[in-house]
Amino acid sequence: MTDISKYETHEYDVLIIGAGGAGLRAAIEALAQGARVAVVSKSLLGKAHTVMAEGGIAAAMANVDKADNWKTHFRDTMNGGKRLNNWRMAQLHAQEAPDRVRELEQWGALFDRTSDGEILQRAFGGHSFKRLCHVGDRTGLEMIRTLQDRGVQQGFDVFMECTIIRLLTSDGRISGAFGYWREQGRFVVFRAKAIVIATGGIGKAYRVTSNSWEYTGDGMALAYEAGADLQDMEFVQFHPTGMVWPPGVQGILVTEAVRGEGGILRNKNGERFMEKYDPKRMELSTRDVVARSIYTEVKEGRGSEHGGAFLDISHKPAEYVKKKLPSMYHQFKELADVDITKGPMEVGPTCHYMMGGIRVEAETAQASVPGLFAAGEAAAGLHGANRLGGNSLSDLLVFGRRAGLSATQHAKSTAHGVIDQQQIAEAEREMLAPFDRSPGENPYSVHRDLQEVMQNLVGIFRTEEDMTKALNELEKLKARAAHVRVEGSRMFNPGWHLARDLKSMLTVSEAVTRSALARKESRGAHSRIDFPGYDEQWGRQNNVTSREAGVMKLRQVPVKELPDDLKQLLAEEATLGAAK
Ligand code: FUM
Repeated sequence: MTDISKYETHEYDVLIIGAGGAGLRAAIEALAQGARVAVVSKSLLGKAHTVMAEGGIAAAMANVDKADNWKTHFRDTMNGGKRLNNWRMAQLHAQEAPDRVRELEQWGALFDRTSDGEILQRAFGGHSFKRLCHVGDRTGLEMIRTLQDRGVQQGFDVFMECTIIRLLTSDGRISGAFGYWREQGRFVVFRAKAIVIATGGIGKAYRVTSNSWEYTGDGMALAYEAGADLQDMEFVQFHPTGMVWPPGVQGILVTEAVRGEGGILRNKNGERFMEKYDPKRMELSTRDVVARSIYTEVKEGRGSEHGGAFLDISHKPAEYVKKKLPSMYHQFKELADVDITKGPMEVGPTCHYMMGGIRVEAETAQASVPGLFAAGEAAAGLHGANRLGGNSLSDLLVFGRRAGLSATQHAKSTAHGVIDQQQIAEAEREMLAPFDRSPGENPYSVHRDLQEVMQNLVGIFRTEEDMTKALNELEKLKARAAHVRVEGSRMFNPGWHLARDLKSMLTVSEAVTRSALARKESRGAHSRIDFPGYDEQWGRQNNVTSREAGVMKLRQVPVKELPDDLKQLLAEEATLGAAK
C-alpha cells in the first residue's frame, strides 16, 4: 500500500484546476467567500486560451445600441445555439454579464470608450446589437491581466507548471487531486473539499487549431474518470477564420472583430460568397455558418492559393485598422509578411472551442459528482449547439463566479474526505509505466495520427461512414497509447507529459465521435452530410456520456422545458436558419 506521507501534500477548502479566466474568477469568488483557495495550472499563470477571445466580451450594456437588453442577448444566444442550450444558463448569463463587466472595470480593466465615456461595444456574428465590450483586439488578454492582478492581490496560492492526473474521491465525493510538477517530475497530493474544473477545451485533438499545447481535454477526462457526466460532446466549434499561411502558423486565430469592424470575405474569383449562404447577415452570420461556407468554397475549387478564403479590411482607413485591430496588423505583418491595411488576409476554419463538456447544474455549476464543479469552456450547456463569439468571456465570468461561490458553500458544509491510497498508487503506476516499456511507441506519432483522424473524419462535415472509421481508428490509437515509451528521466521531459495528455485527448475524442455518430441530424456546429436537416426529436435531447464499469456509455436526456415567459420571448423571433 502507498504511504501518502512520502508525497508533498497541500490542503485547501477549494482547489481550482486551470488558471484561465474561469479558474481565476472562481478563485476570486471563493476567496471572497472566505475559503482557502489554490489554483493549479499546467502552464504559467496568465497563459490561457481566454486571451484568444480577442474581439470582445458580450454583455447587453446598451451603451451603443440602446434597444439591447438581457432578453435580446438571451434570444440571440438560444438561437445561435439552435435552442439546445440549457435555457437557465442562457438566462443567468444574459442577466448577469453586464454586472460582471462593470465589476471587471472596477478591478482595473481598461475598455475602449464611446465619445461620452462609456464602454464601447462592437458588432459580432449572431448578435442583433453592437454588444461586444472590447479592448482593441486584445480583450481576453486585458481580462486575464485584470483577474490575475485581482486574484494575486486577494491572496490565493498558485501552483504553476503542475499537471493534475487524477481526481481523488472517497465515498463517491471529491476528496482531492493527485498531480506532478512538470519541471522535476515529482508527485504532489492536494486535499480539497471541493474542486472546480476550469481547464478549457480540447483543441489539440485536432490538427488545425487556435488552441495552444495545454488544451488536451484534461479536465473533461478527469471528471469523466471520476464518474461525472459529459454532455453534447459532438459540438466542436470551428472558428471560421484562422491563418492558413505560412504552414507554421496555420490555425492561429484571426479575430471575428475583423468582420465586426467591416471585413469582407471573398473567394478567389472575387465573389462575396456569404451572399449565397446568409444574405441577411453576410459576414456576421454565426460561426457554424461562416465556417461551413468557407469550407464549401474551398472544397468546390474557389479557395485561395493555400486553401482558404480572402478576408479584406483594407477598404477602411489604415489608421482605423491599426487602432481597432492592432494585434491583427502585427500578426500578419510579422508572421505572413502581409500588410492588412493594404490587402486581404488568407483565412480558413480552425478548431477553436468546445460547446460540449462537463454536465453541470445551471445555478451552482455543480457536476454529477458531489464536490466537483466546472466552469468556462470545460462545462457544457450555455452555448447549446453553437457558441456566439464573445459569449465565452461573459460565460467564464458569470459561471466562474457561480462555481467559486458554490464550491465554497459546499466546502463549508463538509469535512475533508479520506485520501484513497489505492487511487494514488494506480495513478502513479500508470504515469511511470512509459519509462519501463521496451520497445514502445513514440507519443508524438500517436498524437499526430490522432489529430489526423479527428481533423479528417470528425471535422466540419461528418458522415456515418467516416465516424465509424474514426471509432475504429481511435480503438487502435488507444492500444498504441497504452504502449508508448518515453526516453530519459522525469525531469523536463515533454514526451512524458504528452504520453499523459494523450490519454485525455483519446477519451474526449471518443466522446466527441460517439456523440456525433449518435446525433442523426445537423444542428449548429454538428453537420451531417447524411442527415442534413434538423430533427425535432434530437432537438429536444442532450447526449450524455458517462463511464460505466470502465466503458464509455452514451444516453439521451431530455432538454429541460422552457418556462412560458421565455418561450414567448423566443417565439417573437422564431427562425433558427438552415440546419447546414
Ligand atoms: O474571434 C474572436 O475574437 C474570438 C472570440 C471568441 O471566441 O469569443
